[in-house]
Amino acid sequence: MMTTDAAISAGRMILRGGRPLAGEVVLRGAKNSLPKIMVAALLTGEKCTLRNVAEIADVAIVSELIRALGGEVSAPEPGVLEISAANLRPMERQVLKTFSGKSRIPILACGPMLARFGASPVPSLGGCRIGTRPVDFHIRGLQDLGATLHDETGNAHLTCERLTGNKLHLEYPSVGATEQMILAAVLAHGKTELSNAAIEPEIMDLIMALQKMGAIISVDVDRVITIEGVRELGGYDHAAMPDRLEAASWASAAAATGGRIFVRNARQVDMMTFLNQFRKIGGDFEVTGDGIAFWRREWGLHSTVLETDVHPGFMTDWQQPFVIALTQAAGVSIVHETVYEERFGYVEALNRMGAQIQIYRECLGGLHCRFGQRNYLHSGVIVGPTPLHGAEIYIPDLRAGFSYVIAALVAAGASTLTNTSLIQRGYENLIPKLHALGAEVVEAE
Ligand code: EPZ
Repeated sequence: MMTTDAAISAGRMILRGGRPLAGEVVLRGAKNSLPKIMVAALLTGEKCTLRNVAEIADVAIVSELIRALGGEVSAPEPGVLEISAANLRPMERQVLKTFSGKSRIPILACGPMLARFGASPVPSLGGCRIGTRPVDFHIRGLQDLGATLHDETGNAHLTCERLTGNKLHLEYPSVGATEQMILAAVLAHGKTELSNAAIEPEIMDLIMALQKMGAIISVDVDRVITIEGVRELGGYDHAAMPDRLEAASWASAAAATGGRIFVRNARQVDMMTFLNQFRKIGGDFEVTGDGIAFWRREWGLHSTVLETDVHPGFMTDWQQPFVIALTQAAGVSIVHETVYEERFGYVEALNRMGAQIQIYRECLGGLHCRFGQRNYLHSGVIVGPTPLHGAEIYIPDLRAGFSYVIAALVAAGASTLTNTSLIQRGYENLIPKLHALGAEVVEAE
């Protein structure tokens, strides 16, 4: 199993582009589902078995966090984790300090810690730098369930007698805050109703694992999630959903390089909005029983207008790799990023490679957006097709990192990517997959 340190080292890759990617890659469990289902194991003393586990940094980080809290995590066979939190201890700030800054997942342990011990420190958070990414919704929601926030000199922590169900409302359908409320409410006293909740497939995956544990959770109309608190939960045996974000990344790579990639285990149901946009720009795909093949049609790609949104909209995590395909599309494309205020920071390096992308403060789309006129460069205009040439690129975040890999494989000549360990956080076996697709990986460490 990959250790946390190995996963967070800098990393460097030299890629030579100009060749279509062709071949097969295999998807395993979703980066944005696996770690949350691991955290759910903290809610019980019974053994939990998680299957379809990918070897990615966030899984390693949460495994080490669970062990640091007195839990046990073992890997009886490849792709399977067994977790036992029978001997779980209250979370001390020191334990948390070692994990804050590496991942955003540790904050999701607040709910289970409050449920089991009536106390939890609040971590400072890591994760990709794509906006302020506060946790105010998380804290406010836990307070609404009866937790008290103590914030002496920055050592914030929460306490409660017993969490009590309540009617909660999220001002924005935050994925993390929704997961936090669900993990906190399943053992709370009484019923919790969460309105304006996020309903991403990864959240449904977490709900299905919790349902196996004995939780009573319903997803109602108008994105209302209702949780009826129970006295205790049992273990789970659950296979995580495949990573639809990785699948869309490889689809974008196939379109951008003019190749053909079969993504084993990709599921149409998780990617329908993406597939619509993919077809609209001139991509094509074939759905089979065990995956989806992606390619671009012979007459090439053409521009589109796109707005990211919460599920079932076009995922913000699909945006960055997809924009690389748009640099190779004929015409002028417009992308309005409505989820994160600073998710276009990566285009500067793409323009150095020859792309023609201009970003604007205006909302270039019809969707309601929190960033309009607030000075955030959150809309992009992409003119294509533009030939790309190699460059030296520092990886700023996970999805931008993958988009730079695609750009380097489109570009003529060699590109040197540094800080590539950020990509390994969420893309399992990246180098072997690139080799399998015929990419020219001149050097990788
Ligand atoms: C999850 O992040 C994913 N990460 C992100 O994927 C994904 O982009 C995001 O959901 C949206 O789909 C994981 O699941 C580990 P949010 P999360 O809370 O939960 C604001 C990737 O590349 N907000 O839905 O942190 C926030 O600033 C990563 O795989 C608050 O204002 O996202 C943002 O504008 C990147 N206060 C918006 O909500 C809060 O308390 C969406 O954030 C919480 C969030």
